Amino acid sequence: MIQPTIITIDGTAGSGKGTLAMRIATDLNWHLLDSGALYRLVAYAAIQQGIDYSDESGIERIAKEMDIAFIPTGGKLVEVLLSDINVSDAIRTEDCGYGASKVATYGLVRKALLQRQRDFHQAPGLVADGRDMGTVVFPNAGLKIYLNASAEIRAKRRQQQLKENGVNVNMPRLIRDIEERDARDMGRKDSPLKPADDAIVIDTDHLGVDEVYRIVLQKAQTLVLS
Ligand code: DC
Repeated sequence: MIQPTIITIDGTAGSGKGTLAMRIATDLNWHLLDSGALYRLVAYAAIQQGIDYSDESGIERIAKEMDIAFIPTGGKLVEVLLSDINVSDAIRTEDCGYGASKVATYGLVRKALLQRQRDFHQAPGLVADGRDMGTVVFPNAGLKIYLNASAEIRAKRRQQQLKENGVNVNMPRLIRDIEERDARDMGRKDSPLKPADDAIVIDTDHLGVDEVYRIVLQKAQTLVLS
């Protein structure tokens, strides 16, 4: 049965889905699930506890037991807590992103996080962003969006972001890192990154963030009014 109060936004790393999901959730006044943050939390907790990413059962235990909270705030929308400590910024590092995509390859870890993700679906509705929102976690979502963008364009956007923070990066290395991450996210056995059969695929290479936002908002409003 279709769940009209769920919108999923999936796509590759750096495709702009996080910002888009946040804007749509704010407009509709719906809840927001940043599922990547859950995988980042697992990676972060593993580093903190000195557990190697190759230790599958140790990583699974973390995914099952970690004490986390997502606290909506006025401005940045969500604060991420791990054992009552604010780790919102700490989990955003490149290291945590790399670790997240490593631990996300374990089926047992994905299983341990499944119900936690589904619990985010509460009235009036949920916008869920990630890699497998439309395919695995919320297969009956009323609207499914999949964002595509080439590695070069995503690397350019990332370079611009880093530059604004005073960090200079090497472009070929940035592109290589993005391609490696894509290969791991798309190539894993369990819940690989791919568009759901009924997803609307949007190629964002030649679209600005506001244009993508307007397309998705219009579809979201049609869903809400139907
Ligand atoms: O969206 P992000 O960059 O915060 O995600 C970090 C990693 O987490 C990503 O490379 C793969 C993993 N991930 C996943 O496997 N499934 C999701 N639904 C979300 C993220």
